[in-house]
Amino acid sequence: MGRQLLRVIAAAESNMGIGKCGNLPWDLPNEFNYFLSRITSVSTPGKKNLVISGRQSAIKDSPLPNCYSVVLSRTLSSVPENANYLCRDLDSAIQLGSLAPLSEEIETIWVLGGVKLFEEAMKHPNCDQIYLTKIMAHFDCDTFFPEFDQEIFRLVDEFPGVPSEIQEENGIKYKFQVFEKVSKQSI
Ligand SMILES: NC(=O)c1ccc[n+]([C@@H]2O[C@H](COP(=O)([O-])OP(=O)(O)OC[C@H]3O[C@@H](n4cnc5c(N)ncnc54)[C@H](OP(=O)(O)O)[C@@H]3O)[C@@H](O)[C@H]2O)c1
Repeated sequence: MGRQLLRVIAAAESNMGIGKCGNLPWDLPNEFNYFLSRITSVSTPGKKNLVISGRQSAIKDSPLPNCYSVVLSRTLSSVPENANYLCRDLDSAIQLGSLAPLSEEIETIWVLGGVKLFEEAMKHPNCDQIYLTKIMAHFDCDTFFPEFDQEIFRLVDEFPGVPSEIQEENGIKYKFQVFEKVSKQSI
């Protein structure tokens, strides 16, 4: 059984809002491209990532290069268009990536939301990083990124491959952030 690392990726506005009426509240194409490039990057040719999302957060641009996509739902009875797998819960999706035949192929498991899935993923022992873009503006939202313990996941000052300077797009400033889980010994 493989032990792929589990990573959470999201963007949140100044009140930690992430969504409104089932959509992203902002239009930041470069930020979205950063997100796509993170989840589709693999370090070894031939490897793939497993991307897991709730029914409302599934990515419509498909197929994503280098990815298998899993949608979680307890009500759907068939795999949604543009996804590769349907699972009933996070553990089944993680098992799918950790057991044969996919285990040899999967490099990283990315959790794309929504809220419950972020919450569960951040508590999972294999979750080592949270990629959370800080949008430095207020948007009206009805969906919010869950609280997490910043003594356990600490903000990294400079992360390899992640621009540390403030970005600006359509007059909106934002910053790419990575929080990394502190090893038990150093807490
Ligand atoms: N800014 C960001 O980074 C970001 C990221 C993701 C999403 N969003 C936004 O957030 C909103 C959607 O998030 P959401 O939390 O409302 O919905 P969601 O998690 O995407 O979808 C909810 C549905 O997915 C299924 N589901 C979710 N977690 C599950 C689990 N652990 N086990 C089994 N099924 C699970 C359930 O489907 P069934 O009812 O079929 O069982 C649930 O009703 C949208 O506005 C979206 O644009 C923003």
